[in-house]
Amino acid sequence: IRDTLQRQRPIRIQLLYGNRTPEDVIFGAELEKLASSRSSFTFSLVLSEPPDGYEGLKGFLDSTLIARLVGDVKGKTFYVCGPRVMYDFCEAALKELNVPQRKIRHELYGPAEDVGKEPGWPEGLSGDMVFEVEVAGKRMILAKAGEPLLNALERSGLAVTALCRSGECSACRIRLLEGKVFVPSQAAVRESDREAGYIHGCVSYPIDNLKIRI
Ligand code: FES
Repeated sequence: IRDTLQRQRPIRIQLLYGNRTPEDVIFGAELEKLASSRSSFTFSLVLSEPPDGYEGLKGFLDSTLIARLVGDVKGKTFYVCGPRVMYDFCEAALKELNVPQRKIRHELYGPAEDVGKEPGWPEGLSGDMVFEVEVAGKRMILAKAGEPLLNALERSGLAVTALCRSGECSACRIRLLEGKVFVPSQAAVRESDREAGYIHGCVSYPIDNLKIRI
């Protein structure tokens, strides 16, 4: 938020900030200060366990409260961050308000710790299995099944842009020309990328020899 405001990008940010108690609020003073000095930023603190006499917003970030604070959701993008249980809750609320999935973005937690334990991982395939990856127009590299393809590319000195490392931002997209990769089911890869034959190196694990274009 600070960075976006400093760059004076032409967007409006509204922060709905859910906490249990006032003691749980982090960056509260800075957020108040930003909200009072920038017209493009507003800040609503919501407490689920407010102290006696608290006069601010109370409750949870459910669809009723979100609708009250945000108004018409049309054209707005929602960035949800916090504990997973909270964004499951907020995502359900946003769906009740008919916010399209493509307008809901998540805080991200990086690659799976052990992809071999993910549902759908090929039975009997060891994460240590090594596959050949032909990078079209460049060279052949080796990549382990249990590691995101992006890591193998970076280790080989092949530059691929990467930001979120969780399949969300599309920065690391790669054209898969041949072979198969495993993508954990919770990876938030854009449908349009899937349809266009792109994989995201940060959440794609080689389960076959591959040919790709970066
Ligand atoms: S770095 Fe964002 S999708 Fe891979």
